[in-house]
Amino acid sequence: MDISTKFMGLTIKSPIVIGSSGLTSNIETLKKIEACGAGAVILKSLFEEQITQEMNVNVKVYSANFSGYPEAYNYIQEHTKSNVTNDYINLIKEAKANLTIPVIASINCITASEWLPFVKMAEDAGADGIELNMFILPSDISLSHEDIERLYEDVVHIIKRATSLPISLKISTYFSSLTRFSQKISWLGISNLNIFNRFYQSDINIDNFTTEPAEIKSTHHEFYNTLRWTAIISEAIRCNLTAGGGVHKPEDVIKLLLAGADTVQIVSVLYDEGLGFVVKANELLKSWMKEKGFSSISQFRGKMSVKKNTDASAFHRVQFMKYFSGIS
Ligand SMILES: Cc1cc2nc3c(=O)[nH]c(=O)nc-3n(C[C@H](O)[C@H](O)[C@H](O)COP(=O)(O)O)c2cc1C
Repeated sequence: MDISTKFMGLTIKSPIVIGSSGLTSNIETLKKIEACGAGAVILKSLFEEQITQEMNVNVKVYSANFSGYPEAYNYIQEHTKSNVTNDYINLIKEAKANLTIPVIASINCITASEWLPFVKMAEDAGADGIELNMFILPSDISLSHEDIERLYEDVVHIIKRATSLPISLKISTYFSSLTRFSQKISWLGISNLNIFNRFYQSDINIDNFTTEPAEIKSTHHEFYNTLRWTAIISEAIRCNLTAGGGVHKPEDVIKLLLAGADTVQIVSVLYDEGLGFVVKANELLKSWMKEKGFSSISQFRGKMSVKKNTDASAFHRVQFMKYFSGIS
């Protein structure tokens, strides 16, 4: 049974892609992930803030001693930056030396600045692609949706010039016109769109009036949002589509492929259930394909997307009226 598919223009042996997370930050877990049958791994993100914050901390600590010596100031900045990036480059090299599946480097960025030279280093270290994990919370009242979308477009344009590696763009749902934006950005030469990333969430402690981190992992409730947008966006874009967010059951993988995803990204379920979930999901996919008479994913991928299946127009429905009008 052939369950190979396309991811960032590359052919991979399973549609299950392990998303960027703590699980993809060390070589031992990465080896286990490959042994379980994942199609590709996206390494833990290198955070733009991680580079700039550590630079700023070091500069603050040392600046008293080096005041009046701009060369020293620059040296501290560059030294810190190279320490942060060297660790990451070593992870890429180690992953490439030990795995046969594609290894994707991930950068969490909001601007195209400090991290840009890193892209060439990641390419030289052997990364098979770069994922841009762009996190722009549209909370700034002075920014219009055009301003925000332009930030994404600028970063994609700039990175396209910096590398010949395939690029995946990972986005959130926070766009005024998600389908139109997805289409537009897919025309700019990215190889893959990854829906969706997950924002850090804050909670409020009602005893001491502080904020604290909220639950970081997803639940299955989020899956239906991902399914809806996969069915809609898959028909609009001109690049591969990775869908994820709330995948907690093996059958979710089949549903997202039917909705038009090329690959399915998972993270939280692996923290909850362990890496054996990858084995279970691949096995279910194969037995389901056999039962339905499919010998490759291309025979059914997108069968339930909004354009291909009239029944799938249900994904445009947002009101509960018909279903819950009897419930009081
Ligand atoms: C513990 C944890 C760490 C994560 N770290 C990153 C990260 O460094 N970069 C990134 O792009 N996404 C990160 N994510 C988001 C995941 O890659 C994924 O997009 C998200 O969790 C949705 O998938 P899921 O519902 O299967 O968890 C993280 C998620 C979790 C749960």
